[in-house]
Amino acid sequence: MEKLPDIIGIFLVQLKKDHKKGSLVTGGIGIDGKLLYRDSEVPGDLARFKKYSGGRTIVFGPGTYNGLFIKPLPHRNNIVVSRSYPSELTEIAPKLYHINDLDNAVLAAREHFPEQEIVVGGGEPVYKKLIPQCKYLIVTEVYGDKEADRFVTIPKGMFKEIERIEHEHNGLKYDFVIYERIVPVNPELESDGS
Ligand SMILES: NC(=O)c1ccc[n+]([C@@H]2O[C@H](COP(=O)([O-])OP(=O)(O)OC[C@H]3O[C@@H](n4cnc5c(N)ncnc54)[C@H](OP(=O)(O)O)[C@@H]3O)[C@@H](O)[C@H]2O)c1
Repeated sequence: MEKLPDIIGIFLVQLKKDHKKGSLVTGGIGIDGKLLYRDSEVPGDLARFKKYSGGRTIVFGPGTYNGLFIKPLPHRNNIVVSRSYPSELTEIAPKLYHINDLDNAVLAAREHFPEQEIVVGGGEPVYKKLIPQCKYLIVTEVYGDKEADRFVTIPKGMFKEIERIEHEHNGLKYDFVIYERIVPVNPELESDGS
């Protein structure tokens, strides 16, 4: 069977200070269109984002794209998904594409950039729909109590932790974590033995 490029989710999530590591990961990712934490508060997070999204195709919603980036991220294909965009993948600036549906965004990314892994860049509904298709999740878990209005959950029993590096900066504890999928995306396709 043809090997499809992996899909990778990447996000920073705030967990409660008394969060028990290894338990359900569910918490805030944003407030008022912005991230909860600046890179100066969580050193290394931005570098990690660049490392894992660089050279790949990143998919995000218009709120995330317009709120965080304004212009296409360099060294990667940027696909922004909105129901008001065209149904075909449309290049509107170098390395910046529009499309109107999340499933079509994944299909189009595989068709147009077949060698590249697809990075799921948020926000909330984009993670909700595409995390269940991800092979890896690159997660920064910050232990704090800021108010949030956008959230993410890693579905229970779908991923296992394969790496955790603990950090602390100015009293703020945060971990760089990698999760790997442990259940097939589509059991019918992956269990035919071919
Ligand atoms: N912590 C992190 O790592 C992280 C990462 C990313 C974002 N964020 C935060 O999240 C917030 C922004 O995210 P958001 O959820 O508000 O907005 P968003 O990124 O714009 O995502 C939601 C939009 O995506 C489009 N969309 C969703 N599902 C779709 C589908 N099935 N088909 C077509 N389009 C679809 C819709 O756009 P239309 O309404 O135009 O159709 C929807 O309004 C900000 O606070 C940002 O800082 C945090």
